[in-house]
Amino acid sequence: MTSDLDGLTALVTGGASGIGLATARLLGERGARVAVLDLDPSALGEPLRGFTADVADDRSVRSAVERAAEALGGVDILVNNAGIGAAGTVEDNPDEQWHRVLDVNVLGIVRTTRAALPYLRRSACASVVNTCSIAATAGLPQRALYSASKGAVLSLTLAMSADHVREGIRVNCVNPGTVDTPWVSRLLDSAADPQAERAALSARQPTGRLVTAEEVAAAIAYLASPAAGSVTGTALAVDGGMAGLRLRPEPKQ
Ligand SMILES: NC(=O)c1ccc[n+]([C@@H]2O[C@H](COP(=O)([O-])OP(=O)(O)OC[C@H]3O[C@@H](n4cnc5c(N)ncnc54)[C@H](O)[C@@H]3O)[C@@H](O)[C@H]2O)c1
Repeated sequence: MTSDLDGLTALVTGGASGIGLATARLLGERGARVAVLDLDPSALGEPLRGFTADVADDRSVRSAVERAAEALGGVDILVNNAGIGAAGTVEDNPDEQWHRVLDVNVLGIVRTTRAALPYLRRSACASVVNTCSIAATAGLPQRALYSASKGAVLSLTLAMSADHVREGIRVNCVNPGTVDTPWVSRLLDSAADPQAERAALSARQPTGRLVTAEEVAAAIAYLASPAAGSVTGTALAVDGGMAGLRLRPEPKQ
């Protein structure tokens, strides 16, 4: 049986956990040869190939992209997914934390894409998918720094899409709502009342539940696939309707 990604090669940053891991697995199931770039990819099993990389360190990224491209035989798909969070208003985060989060979430994409472009240019169906966030398009409380980083990811996606469309490289992003990943579990664990916090986050989404990592992975795989050959410069929301819908409160029983 053939699959839509048969013969293609993919790099997924932050692919050792959550959305990245679900994406790496799905791309593999659909026929791609997949390399994961992460701080600690040691727990990954076959067929995924792990490469240690810190997207905040240019040398580490260049070396990992080069080794991964060599192992896979090229790069057709780049998923820029590695990211870190930050809580607080504009008053709360010290400058060092601003630099750190922007360094990982925004410059991480710059470094990995820069290193992968020579390989993407040789591909007949090259595409880049960035993991952005609902925080890029909606004002969420206590997320000033994180939202600024994801707003930059959205704009960077559009700019990269314009720069590389004539080279045959498509660039898109996904905007997830709150996704049930180890990241969100850590957030819930640190809340005073984790159950109430989970209920509040679920209720914020019109579907009434958190998004699954597999649902985001499916959107990334679509954008990365040849089926999306005319799709570039878009942000695909996977947010349970959070960005677009305005529901009235449920009528009281
Ligand atoms: N979980 C959510 O609700 C949610 C919502 C919207 C967007 N996102 C975005 O999705 C992406 C993945 O989030 P997740 O929830 O799967 O998180 P996660 O913490 O489960 O996984 C993130 C992965 O990125 C890796 N990583 C972190 N910093 C790195 C670095 N400097 N270099 C290389 N790898 C690094 C981690 O080791 C980890 O494997 C992030 O970009 C995040 O901003 C998450």
